Amino acid sequence: MSDIKRMKLYCHPERVYNEINAAGYGKDALLREKDIRFFDQYHYLGTDAVDDAIDFLQVDSQSRLIEIGSGLGGPARYLAEKAGCHVTAVEIQSDLNQIASSLTNRCGLSGRVEHFCGDILEFPEDGGNFDAAVSWLAVLHIPNRQALFKKCFNILKPAGKIFFEDYYKLGAFSSEEEKILCGDVQCPYLPAAEEYKYQLIENGFTDVKFEDKTVCWSDFVRGRVEKFIENRDRYAKLHGNEVADGMEDFYKKILQLFCQGNLGGARITAVKNGR
Ligand SMILES: C[S@@+](CC[C@H](N)C(=O)[O-])C[C@H]1O[C@@H](n2cnc3c(N)ncnc32)[C@H](O)[C@@H]1O
Repeated sequence: MSDIKRMKLYCHPERVYNEINAAGYGKDALLREKDIRFFDQYHYLGTDAVDDAIDFLQVDSQSRLIEIGSGLGGPARYLAEKAGCHVTAVEIQSDLNQIASSLTNRCGLSGRVEHFCGDILEFPEDGGNFDAAVSWLAVLHIPNRQALFKKCFNILKPAGKIFFEDYYKLGAFSSEEEKILCGDVQCPYLPAAEEYKYQLIENGFTDVKFEDKTVCWSDFVRGRVEKFIENRDRYAKLHGNEVADGMEDFYKKILQLFCQGNLGGARITAVKNGR
């Protein structure tokens, strides 16, 4: 098992099919994006967070976006369905990417969402094609920020924008918090806000804005644990006990991190310096 699979969120990704089947759709049935949006988003506050990106970036049918770390493809499909834009969805885990691609086909969105399996750091640079780079909770997995932000700069059009939702460091982590971050969350490095901003500026971005989301994300992860416990029996029946144990442990560890006050969450936006 590769290291990223130590993060229990990414084990058994086929559980999305159990949810789809339980909602009454046959194995290969055609779907609508709205039928699956409750199961296919791996970030906080679901499609509301993606709506904020659509508004901020003024995404329309002419926009070309790249999503860094697209998971099961939920945000990419929602962007394409809601705004009619084109999205290149980049995902490093082949099993997630394969499921994402099959769901996109079943939703009839293959013309607007293109799935690319690989490391964003290896994504081919062909001269700055994208209006915006978006990402939800994926940057935290990529410790080489210099390479990542340089890549973003190179693949964006002049004055192209970034819209990331990501973790950052609010206070010094205890050794237990570090262990959870490195192992259970696969997040070996987190900068503080100022360092994060500086790294973006250093790599050619301007107008860097950092909107703190810590309180709202703490509430979200607390509610997620409560809801999970309330519905645990149903979850275990549908996906099996091992999967339920894994998800419960993962959700509780994230809540523990937010409760200890050293983990922060933010929406980070910036503009590629046009010069
Ligand atoms: C928390 S998930 C979020 C998925 C999706 N953005 C969503 O909100 O539903 C983060 C994703 O980033 C992917 N990822 C991590 N490092 C990556 C990299 N270097 N290149 C591409 N994808 C990466 C992970 O495999 C994971 O699927």
